[in-house]
Amino acid sequence: MRIAIIPGDGIGKEVTAEAVKVLKAAGERFGRTFDLEHLPWSADYFLQSGVTIPPNGYDLLREFDAIFIGALGDPRVPDNRHARDILLGTRFELDLFVNYRPVTLLHERLCPLKGRGPKDVNFVVFRENTEGVYVGVGGRFKAGTDDEIAIQEEINTYKGVHRIIAYAFEFAAARGLTKVCMADKSNAMPHGHALWQRVFRETAARYTGIEATHYYIDALAMYMVLDPAQFQVIVTNNLFGDIITDLGATFQGGLGMAASGNIHPGKTSMFEPVHGSAPKFAGKNVANPIGAISSVALMLETLGLADEATAIDRAIAATVNAGEGTADIGGTLGTREAGRTIIARLTPHGSRGNTLITHKDQTDAM
Ligand code: NAD
Ligand code: IPM
Ligand code: MN
Repeated sequence: MRIAIIPGDGIGKEVTAEAVKVLKAAGERFGRTFDLEHLPWSADYFLQSGVTIPPNGYDLLREFDAIFIGALGDPRVPDNRHARDILLGTRFELDLFVNYRPVTLLHERLCPLKGRGPKDVNFVVFRENTEGVYVGVGGRFKAGTDDEIAIQEEINTYKGVHRIIAYAFEFAAARGLTKVCMADKSNAMPHGHALWQRVFRETAARYTGIEATHYYIDALAMYMVLDPAQFQVIVTNNLFGDIITDLGATFQGGLGMAASGNIHPGKTSMFEPVHGSAPKFAGKNVANPIGAISSVALMLETLGLADEATAIDRAIAATVNAGEGTADIGGTLGTREAGRTIIARLTPHGSRGNTLITHKDQTDAM
């Protein structure tokens, strides 16, 4: 399998180095080799060449079986132009409409919510990944004056809203889950979010065994903290999904723990930790590599390598249960040492059995 690796900026480079070592080690244990191609696109690359992503960049990415990204963002590029082209560009150009962000707590000790453990924090967020306010439609008029007008449009299409909501219900049905919750702000955004309301109602009607609930996004944030156990599957728009998955990451032990997949069934998908480049931690060997390593497991699962994915998940869980890890999760290890201890725990047994919807024919029916 050919996999593109974009380490990116800051701690992205450090966590990617560990994720790649784990990927190779998992391959070795299962007698499989991955053909990895490192792509240099980053703030450094942009500052040296003036190029964020080459003109054929997205076509190049489409040739791979999967893409792994570390993180993008650098204070030397204040307008974040390269991150928009590389990260958001990949999501948009490859039409990776499903942003899959599991919120899974491995050990009670890591959760900041009083008295909550792994049984209470175990849900997934499906974040719409190709529309919303992220489309960049808008502009500034009379910029820099006291008459300035700044417009940032939110785009919601039937196709876009329908496919992410349908994916969330299909996922729930495939895994025997019984609850899907949609969050919007239709009380304040009656045009765009009325579409979410309608599509959610219509889709829910086709899944009679699944309880469909709705919260406004502000209330959802509150219920996530007060009673996370009520959630199995949450589906929401691009911006709200971004915000609530940082909140969700705190339940897991922090941003360093959270993994994500940017998926289009049947097409080349992209995997990355939820966190950013954390410039203040860069180059210090302190960043937690688990979010990145866990994203490798999601990538392998999506590629149909369930045993490899399970082995990585188990190695992460065993490491966390042993109280080992980086300082953000109460451990004493550096980034590299945390990677090494996870690799030492990789064993080839067991099966994951909770495969994502990865084939196009499964979504054509939606
Ligand atoms: P961030 O996720 O980089 O960091 C916020 C804080 O979370 C850090 O200061 C740190 O305390 C903690 N943290 C994050 N990752 C960690 C890890 N692996 N181990 C331990 N602690 C960790 O968010 P930010 O500071 O808002 O953004 C920094 C830059 O990253 C910005 O340029 C932003 O645009 C970018 N960003 C990129 C991505 C991405 O590439 N997917 C995601 C988020 C932010
Ligand atoms: C994320 C990040 C990105 C987003 C930023 C870097 C544009 O926060 O992947 O969660 O908002 O999608
Ligand atoms: Mn984010």
